[in-house]
Amino acid sequence: MRITIVLMIAGIIATVPTVQAQDIKQGRQLALEVCAACHAVLADQSQSPIAEAPSFETVAATPGMTAAALNVWLTAQDHPTMPNIVLSQTDVQDISAYILSLGE
Ligand code: HEC
Repeated sequence: MRITIVLMIAGIIATVPTVQAQDIKQGRQLALEVCAACHAVLADQSQSPIAEAPSFETVAATPGMTAAALNVWLTAQDHPTMPNIVLSQTDVQDISAYILSLGE
């Protein structure tokens, strides 16, 4: 069941065009609004408000972290410690682009 959902999402992601530079700015804004309650969102923040939540810099530095992996994480919503945040596919792409930009 879960693997089916992941494969479905992977199929959707495969058809999504690559993100543009301005999406990173939008993603940063969204992350500050939606994720900052728990995560350290900005590049110079290392300590998240919620200790168990990894800073986005840490997420970006995770080996093998890709936009596709972030898309799955942010749309599958199967992690018990994450609230069910409803994000559009565009929001997810923008936030993923922002998070990944921290690792560059
Ligand atoms: C209510 C608190 C909360 C909010 C809001 C929240 N998160 Fe999280 N998030 C967590 C916690 C806690 C974890 C750690 C879960 C674990 O691994 O046990 C986590 C884990 C993650 C991970 C996985 C990191 C990894 O490598 O395992 C990602 C990616 C992530 N969050 C992104 C986001 C994004 C993007 C948003 C905003 C759209 C967001 N989160 C909003 C609490 C939150």
